Amino acid sequence: MEDLFKKLGIGLPIIQAGMAGGITTPELVAAVSNAGGLGTIGAGYMGSVELKQMIEQVKELTDRPFAVNLFSVNLETFSTEVEETQQYLNRFRSGLSIDPGSTSIKVNDYLHEKIYIILQENVRVVSTAFGVLSSVLIDRLKQKNITLIGMATNLEEAEQLVEAGYDAVVAQGYEAGGHRGTFNMKKYPNGCNIGLFTLVQELVRFLPVPVIAAGGIHTKKQVDALISLGASGVQLGTRFLVAKEAGTNESYRRALIKAKTEDTVLTKVFSGRPARAIRNEFIRTMEDSGVTIHPFPLQNELTKDIRAAGKEFADSEVQSLWAGQGVGAIQREESVTDILNIVMGSYMTQVQQQEETDAVTEVAATNQVTKHENATDEWVAQADQPSGEVEAKTASAEK
Ligand SMILES: Cc1cc2nc3c(=O)[nH]c(=O)nc-3n(C[C@H](O)[C@H](O)[C@H](O)COP(=O)(O)O)c2cc1C
Repeated sequence: MEDLFKKLGIGLPIIQAGMAGGITTPELVAAVSNAGGLGTIGAGYMGSVELKQMIEQVKELTDRPFAVNLFSVNLETFSTEVEETQQYLNRFRSGLSIDPGSTSIKVNDYLHEKIYIILQENVRVVSTAFGVLSSVLIDRLKQKNITLIGMATNLEEAEQLVEAGYDAVVAQGYEAGGHRGTFNMKKYPNGCNIGLFTLVQELVRFLPVPVIAAGGIHTKKQVDALISLGASGVQLGTRFLVAKEAGTNESYRRALIKAKTEDTVLTKVFSGRPARAIRNEFIRTMEDSGVTIHPFPLQNELTKDIRAAGKEFADSEVQSLWAGQGVGAIQREESVTDILNIVMGSYMTQVQQQEETDAVTEVAATNQVTKHENATDEWVAQADQPSGEVEAKTASAEK
């Protein structure tokens, strides 16, 4: 099986998860790629103009490969039947002194426009969540030799990705922060929730493509164990939320540092899709209320203004504090390099040594070329001179 990371020229077998919602700043993505991993722009909720700007900013900061992460679902939706939920949500809004919610909700989808931008900008890797891209879109990406990585929460989903032409699969364990990537929400209303070690072993056994492990990973020991089980690499989300380069707001960072391992729950109250977050007042109140929770992405749109106000007013009790079960291991803010040194340990040293060797080889090759150019210049200069002079110079040089 071809090594995904080697094929991409990536030294560190680690992917920074594409995290939609302003977390994946150009600085975060570029810092991970520059350190030898694969940084990812979380573009699930972006429009195409925003995505183009983001790609351009990342390219200014790195010439290494990076990925764009998309949702493989059509987000377009419209509803006027949200009054009951809005009335309930207005309690939070009045507490935050923001306007009551609208009773008519519309969400647009920009997936096709974003694929166009990705093709135009020659992005080398695309990763997706929540399903399989259409065959038309997969063909377009494949024509440009773009590497496709899909996220799965069970073997059946993973096989669908492989059959459709994906090059690698992220095995998302139950421990993972953020949304469950489960495809069929009717079959698994609370997401398909298999523990990471069980899932990785099953996917490694049956898939003909590389498997990347995701969910609750914070230590080099976990990375080593997963690689010894056959994973080709790891994907981390939560740990990068406290990176200094990430776009995570201050109150969210504080909640991550404070949270214990047992403080996360799976909930649909923010977006209509099951997702793992730190339990807070919004989750408790909404779940106790029995109010209708609409399907994704309608519920996500309904709660958007409340979550945004929570960020603005530093109120972590009404924000979606996505986090994986490994959150208990987070103790402080760190730079991307610090995080990678801790989580990747000896892999970092190997990459640094390889880079030093490459740099020495490059300097030697440049010197060789310069020497050759000098010799050629000398030869050209000599050739321009009358033959007697050349012979005299050559003879004196030989002495
Ligand atoms: C804040 C946050 C946002 C996320 N957003 C996305 C997303 O937009 N697309 C995606 O494929 N996965 C997303 N994920 C899930 C990750 O891909 C990955 O499965 C998860 O972060 C791994 O678990 P960990 O958070 O414990 O490291 C998100 C995770 C977090 C924590």
